[in-house]
Amino acid sequence: MEKIQVHDYTIFVGNIWPELKLFLETRQFEQTIVLVDDHTATHCLPVFQAALPELSFELIRVPAGEQHKNLNSCQHIWSSLFQLGAGRKAVMINLGGGVIGDMGGFCASTFKRGMSFIQIPTTLLSQVDASVGGKLGIDFLDIKNGIGVFNNPEAVFIDPVFYKTLPARELRSGYAEVIKHSLIHDPAQWESLRQYKKLEDIDWASLLVPSLKIKQHFVEKDPREKGLRKALNFGHTIGHAVEGVALNSDHPLLHGEAIAIGMVCETFLSFLQCQLPQEEVAQISRYLLGIYDHHPIDLRHFDDYLTLMKNDKKNEQGQINFSLLPKAGSVSVNQQCSTAWILQSLQYYNDLATVSVID
Ligand SMILES: NC(=O)c1ccc[n+]([C@@H]2O[C@H](COP(=O)([O-])OP(=O)(O)OC[C@H]3O[C@@H](n4cnc5c(N)ncnc54)[C@H](O)[C@@H]3O)[C@@H](O)[C@H]2O)c1
Ligand SMILES: [Zn+2]
Repeated sequence: MEKIQVHDYTIFVGNIWPELKLFLETRQFEQTIVLVDDHTATHCLPVFQAALPELSFELIRVPAGEQHKNLNSCQHIWSSLFQLGAGRKAVMINLGGGVIGDMGGFCASTFKRGMSFIQIPTTLLSQVDASVGGKLGIDFLDIKNGIGVFNNPEAVFIDPVFYKTLPARELRSGYAEVIKHSLIHDPAQWESLRQYKKLEDIDWASLLVPSLKIKQHFVEKDPREKGLRKALNFGHTIGHAVEGVALNSDHPLLHGEAIAIGMVCETFLSFLQCQLPQEEVAQISRYLLGIYDHHPIDLRHFDDYLTLMKNDKKNEQGQINFSLLPKAGSVSVNQQCSTAWILQSLQYYNDLATVSVID
């Protein structure tokens, strides 16, 4: 069991159940409410119940998927909390991926001005990224995480046991954030990730702690994303726009899949703006395209992408802000690029042929 401290809460990584049991016994919450979605109700709740057979709790369930990370679901969660008679001394356990963690944390933080919550992230993506750093919220008017708050959980419990039922596509999506962490802060880890020829070769559990420590580094230094923490948004300015447009299409992309596209485009912007060497641009692009399918961006809708980028929360004074790579393993925040360069970066992505072999 590894423990990582972020501000006033602990992230437990490994076989979490003895620590979770102890934590709940020590804290003596008045009532325990577990939030799940349809998939985690099937796949993760039985694991939770088998590990904590004596725990009595109430269940709130929402439909699975990003399209349900919205006000409707919040309304259901808040109404259920009132119906269950929950008070501020109750605790909500968010058992699910980033959608459940972000939305459950947001509902808990706003219910009666705030009740306690615990994160048990069950996807790779939520374990290495979403469950840490206190960002909570929902999508609104096509804007990803448009409404939300910063607030920290009581604790985070991360257990690789949940990968057993996680679809391969979801694991691959989560891996995008692991790649991102290495690209912005850890050249040695980037080198070692590049050695993996197939996703099946990856020992996922071994990636958790190094990746979490990178997130911890940025979050601790800048909890409210005033500056340095924006580093974590590498790939996300364009990636969120791609994700937003895809969400309304017949072929929605998973978060990590969209971020992978964003990282390719922003790697090219890093070349234009921060002189990222051309060999590294090629290396990063090839690696990402070896893992993630190529989804051409429809440039006839460039204005829609731009509108979404303009709504990005990192922007200041109406400028679109990027976090770019001067070299693999380091990052520069608050980089502004012209519309022409942004378009060029999307074209660069479109022009790349899909490659099947990881470099
Ligand atoms: N707060 C943050 O800092 C932060 C950071 C990154 C991403 N996010 C958010 O996280 C979300 C994406 O997270 P995600 O990829 O975990 O999405 P998700 O919560 O939708 O989970 C993906 C899918 O896997 C299912 N699932 C979850 N765990 C499972 C398991 N163990 N076995 C089988 N199925 C399982 C879910 O029901 C869902 O269908 C996005 O909304 C994104 O905005 C937030
Ligand atoms: Zn992300």
